[in-house]
Order: sequence, then C-alpha cells, then structure tokens
Amino acid sequence: MSAPDELHPGPLDPITATMSPPSKRLYIKTYGCQMNVYDSERMADVLAPLGYAMTQSPEQADLVVLNTCHIREKATEKVYSELGQIRRMKLDQAALGKTMTIAVAGCVAQAEGAEIMRRQPAVDLVVGPQAYHQLPELIARTHRAKGERLAADFAAEDKFDALPTSRNPGGVTAFLTVQEGCDKFCTFCVVPYTRGAEWSRPPEAILAEARSLAEQGVREVTLLGQNVNAYSAEGGLAALVRSLARIEGLDRIRYMTSHPRDMDEALIQAHGEIPELMPFLHLPVQSGSDRILKAMNRAHTAESYLKLIERVRQARPDIAISGDFIVGFPGERESDFEATLDLIRAVGHASAFSFKYSKRPGTPAAALPGQVDEAVKDERLARLNALLDLQQKDFNAAQVGKVLPVLFERAGRHDGQLAGRSPFLQAVHCDGPLDLIGQIVPVRIDGSAKMSLTGTRIGHEDLVNS
Ligand code: 5AD
Ligand code: SF4
Repeated sequence: MSAPDELHPGPLDPITATMSPPSKRLYIKTYGCQMNVYDSERMADVLAPLGYAMTQSPEQADLVVLNTCHIREKATEKVYSELGQIRRMKLDQAALGKTMTIAVAGCVAQAEGAEIMRRQPAVDLVVGPQAYHQLPELIARTHRAKGERLAADFAAEDKFDALPTSRNPGGVTAFLTVQEGCDKFCTFCVVPYTRGAEWSRPPEAILAEARSLAEQGVREVTLLGQNVNAYSAEGGLAALVRSLARIEGLDRIRYMTSHPRDMDEALIQAHGEIPELMPFLHLPVQSGSDRILKAMNRAHTAESYLKLIERVRQARPDIAISGDFIVGFPGERESDFEATLDLIRAVGHASAFSFKYSKRPGTPAAALPGQVDEAVKDERLARLNALLDLQQKDFNAAQVGKVLPVLFERAGRHDGQLAGRSPFLQAVHCDGPLDLIGQIVPVRIDGSAKMSLTGTRIGHEDLVNS
C-alpha cells in the first residue's frame, strides 16, 4: 500500500463566505501525509476571508497551491512535473488577460525553496509549513509587486495561534494537529530538517478546537503529529486523550503517527481504560533487523518492539496494529530482510505502509555504503507486500460474523448504501438511509475483502462504542 496522494479540497467557512462573497478560485493539491491534509484545510480557511473559494480543477484557478511532500524522491519529483503542467495553464490564462498565482507550500518548499524558484520560474511564492498564517499577506505582496517572487521567512513561530480556529469540518470525522516536528533523526528521514524540532500545541487550544468540531457534528477526531505520542504537555498524550474523551459528542479518538520510544505506560493503559480511544495503533517499526535498526538510529530493537506490542495487547487485547516498513535500507542483506518478515509474522498486522528506501539529500543514510540495487528493493517490496496483504485479509476476515459499531461517514458508491468505519479503521459498506450519517450503529459483518468489509445493520439506535 502506498501513502495517500490525492486532492483534498478544504471546506469553505460559511460565516466568512457570507461576509465576503467568494470571487476568486483557489485550487489546492495535497501530497503526502495527513498533516498536509490538515494544513491544506487551514490554508483554505485563512484564505476564505479574502474571497477565495475552493475549486476542483486548476485550469481556471486564480490561486494554485501545491502542498508538497519531501519524504521520498518520487513525491518530490511529482511536484516539479505538476508545476510544469500548471505553468502551461498560467500561460493560457495570461493569454486571456488573467493572472494565475502559483504558490508552493509544504516540505519541498521548506527544504528546497530556492531550487523551486530556479527550476520553475512560473512559481510566485514558496511558503514553508510554519508560515501559513502569513499567506494572505504574502499573496497580497505578490500581487502588489507584480513580477516579484517571494520566499516566506521560515521562522518557527506559533502558526496555530494565528490561524482561524473556527473551522467548518464538513463531515463527521476530522483531523486535529496536536504536535509537529521530530527530534528522532532516523538516518533515512528528512522530517527533522523540514518540520523542525518537536513542538506540542497547548491543550487548551486543542480542546477549544475539538469542542468547536464536536458542536459542528464531528464525532471522531484523529490527533496528528509527526511524533504524536511525543506530545509533551502535562500528562502527555494520555492526559490529552482523557480530556478530549469528556467532550460531549466526541465519541471516537485516534492518533497517528507514533514512535515506539514514546509509547509510555500511561498511553498503553489509556488503550485499556478509555472507551473513546479506538483500538488501532499505527506504530512504525521500519525493520526487523537489529543491525539495520541501529544504522537507522531507531533506538529500539526487534525484541523491544515485540515486547511493547505485547504490553499494548495486554491493555487492549483486540487492538489492531499497523506500521511502516522500509526495504532496501543501505547495507540491508537478505538475512536482515528475512528478520523483517519474521517480525511481521510475529506481530500480525491489520494494515501497513511499505516503502522502498529512497535516498534523501542531506540525510546520514544517503552517504552510507552498500546502497541496495533497485531490482533487489523491488523484489523485497513485493515479498513484503504479499505477506502484509495476507495479514490484512486475515484480519478483515476475522471480523466476519461479529457485530461492530460503525460510524457512518458518507453515502456509499451504490444507491441506498452507506460507508463508514469500524473501530479498527476498516471501511464498512452497508445498506441504510442517509440520516444515519454521523451515527454509530451496530453492524453485523457479512463479508470481507482486503480493503473493506460489508455488513447488515442490526439496529437503528445510536451506539457509543459499546
Ligand atoms: N525512504 C523510504 N521511506 C521513508 N520513510 C521516511 N523516509 C523515507 C525514505 N528516505 C517512510 C518511513 C516513515 C514513513 C512516513 O515514510 O517508513 O515511517
Ligand atoms: Fe522521520 Fe524517524 Fe522522525 Fe518518523 S521518527 S519523522 S521516521 S525521523
């Protein structure tokens, strides 16, 4: 399975929209992780008062924002090819006497802003993840100084204080960023360089945002952070989850992504004690070989990871485990790779993301000897995925015959069908009326596939995680 890479149009704030009728079209394309999805929504919020309304295609947009991802080379290269296409649209618009502004945001902007400006002269603005609250001003400056191109100052100030907190989530689930940055310095990873040091939002700000979401009908929040379990306010992530669980109407809480190093006892116990905390844990291990884990600077071994999973399962026996894996890290031998397969067999995954190692400029691993052949990486990735797919299918098949509380999120693909999620984050399809959207309903699972479950409602009543 690969990481999401799709368009996530942000909602338009209805209040600000009435104050200032939308007159300009905004197209945002989001690459990479959920933190970028959240940031794109915040960018749409901050631009709405200027009259920008979301549009689904870039051709006639007044402002195009690419919210980029730098984690692997492929993601970065995609940005440059997309920019080439958008440049042609900008030229078409210019021929009609219209102006299209192109902004590049996200981690590529942060890591190689000058390179973007050099490689693609059509770009007007580059803006890193810490400067999104300055977008209105930056765009105004770009427009005033025709032809002048801007790179935003990347000071790590608190962008959250300056971004609007009244959001229109437009659904029953929402992301909520609680932590940013990473101090772990895994040797393969660019995140500590692009997103900066670990930083946690104050709980009061998070609780206020969560309350506002709940008042607007959100029933499930996913707390986001590059190292979300490094959340460092008093009591850590466990205390934050406990406070969030008390919010009226907020019945499901999830979090991602976590580091094994920060999985403390309080958080493990929270999984057994807080019914609102969903039984799903994304806890990347990356490799099952201690030699490779050491070279990755992961600060855990295969054995310590397995012990951790055991403790989590003691607290919450049915918890679904998910992870990230990298194949072909420099120096990875067949025996190291087999150790990864062994670890996967020992854990049993509900889902996982797997990647071929991608050499990132400026990271320590890029300079290591023993870079692995692309063909070997391909072959290992195929074997890894075959095993993970099998585990995912088995995990899904094990739900057949059970009754699961399903939060219905939207209409399904077929008429009269609803789509929702089980506590284990599985997609569930089931017949039912649209007014059940936003409700948690017991569903008997009748069928399973790799990516989803099908089921039958056994009652109409709204459940709360029972
Ligand atoms: N190459 C391949 N995968 C990477 N990841 C991070 N950096 C790299 C890289 N250089 C993966 C890790 C991480 C996930 C978000 O992306 O598995 O957990
Ligand atoms: Fe990257 Fe490692 Fe930090 Fe995760 S923990 S963001 S993989 S450096």
